[in-house]
Amino acid sequence: MRIRIEEAAAHAGHEVEIHGWLYHRRSSGSIHFLLVRDGSGVMQCVMTKQEVPVASFALADGLTQESSIIVRGRVREDRRAPGGHELAVTGLDVVHLAEPYPITPKEHGVEFLMDHRHLWLRSRRQHAIMRIRAELIQACTSFLDGRGFLRMDAPILTPASVEGTTTLFETPYFDLGSAYLTQSGQLYNEAAAMAFGQVYCLGPTFRAEKSKTRRHLTEFWMLEPEAAYMTLDEYMVLAEEMVTAAVDQVLERRRTELAVLERDTAALERVRPPFPRISYDDALDRLNEADKSLPWGEDFGAEQETVISAQFDRPVFVHHYPATCKAFYMQPAEDRPDVVLSADLLAPEGYGEIIGGGQRIHDLTLLEQRLREHHLPSDVYRWYLDLRRYGSVPHSGFGLGIERTVAWICGIEHIREAIPFPRLLNRLYP
Ligand code: 4AD
Ligand code: MG
Repeated sequence: MRIRIEEAAAHAGHEVEIHGWLYHRRSSGSIHFLLVRDGSGVMQCVMTKQEVPVASFALADGLTQESSIIVRGRVREDRRAPGGHELAVTGLDVVHLAEPYPITPKEHGVEFLMDHRHLWLRSRRQHAIMRIRAELIQACTSFLDGRGFLRMDAPILTPASVEGTTTLFETPYFDLGSAYLTQSGQLYNEAAAMAFGQVYCLGPTFRAEKSKTRRHLTEFWMLEPEAAYMTLDEYMVLAEEMVTAAVDQVLERRRTELAVLERDTAALERVRPPFPRISYDDALDRLNEADKSLPWGEDFGAEQETVISAQFDRPVFVHHYPATCKAFYMQPAEDRPDVVLSADLLAPEGYGEIIGGGQRIHDLTLLEQRLREHHLPSDVYRWYLDLRRYGSVPHSGFGLGIERTVAWICGIEHIREAIPFPRLLNRLYP
């Protein structure tokens, strides 16, 4: 019977078949230790000369790393084996004998590994990161589903910008001129929120960002909830509850993966609501005290975010940013029109902004004025303005960057490992 390695414990004492690849081999005269992986886990398969046909034993002798193989044998408990079980091999088929594999257990440079990303994904560390990524997405979407948010995905090819025109990827679009790869599903989400009350979208988003930092991708995934009648304060409560639920689920179900990454889980255990909330003005004072002052009105960069988040042991919201450093759609504060009802969530340990969001302008005249101030063409936003003509209501939403969040939860150095095939300023391959 064919099983997956992760189910091995349930088959102890039985004959099974594993379809996988050779991860590593150690051999002595009369015994082969084959470390076999099948995508679900890694299992030690022990082949002794007296228990297999002569031809099978000889076949194992010539097996190269990453050869695809089918092994048969009996599952037996062994406390020392990874996963607590090993396979006493009785048969071996070679599906494909691999050429000399470029990624060996020795150290490789990052650029070499990135050039071999299609193969690098087979390694234990990448498995841990990808499983945590999937867990995070699953946790967040099921959290929102449970709160009555409807998944309503947004288009990728769009006629207009969301987050400013300087980071748009442009592509020719038949007789209609240019299309742009979406920077965020937000504008469509707003239409969906007016139709369904509470919605979210999850998909790839694009920024032609000329930044070569460990936090920037040109293609990244964003999870964006949006709700009619939701205020800034309600958005912050929703976001902190979602982030906490996701971190909890990773801690509960991905302990092994966190251990592979040597993640300090105590730092994740501290992620508990309420998250601290500070205003932009307060953040500026803190930067001043830390000798990292910034003129009022400027947005924070990685350096400022790191100084601020280092002062807290859990994620921190910075709210009420100056209107000048945020997008055109931000609702101004009632008593102070130079600041907007926005909030960013900064992750601890120097991982920077993982969420951006806030309350949107619901007044038609003000929105038209902002489009003019931002030199945005009103014709392609006609439909968006319609939302302010037909039953307009105050509403809010936010976007959680999946890869930034994965990088933080995994405690990895660079965002490039948080997505299967990263797209960076200087990388489009593989
Ligand atoms: O702060 P941003 O630009 O917000 C928006 O796009 C809003 N329209 C979202 C909304 O309100 N629905 O981006 C949101 C998040 C950031 O906090 C960050 O986590 C991530 O998206 N992000 C990036 N991640 C990787 N590489 C980049 N270049 C990113 N730019 C933003
Ligand atoms: Mg932002």
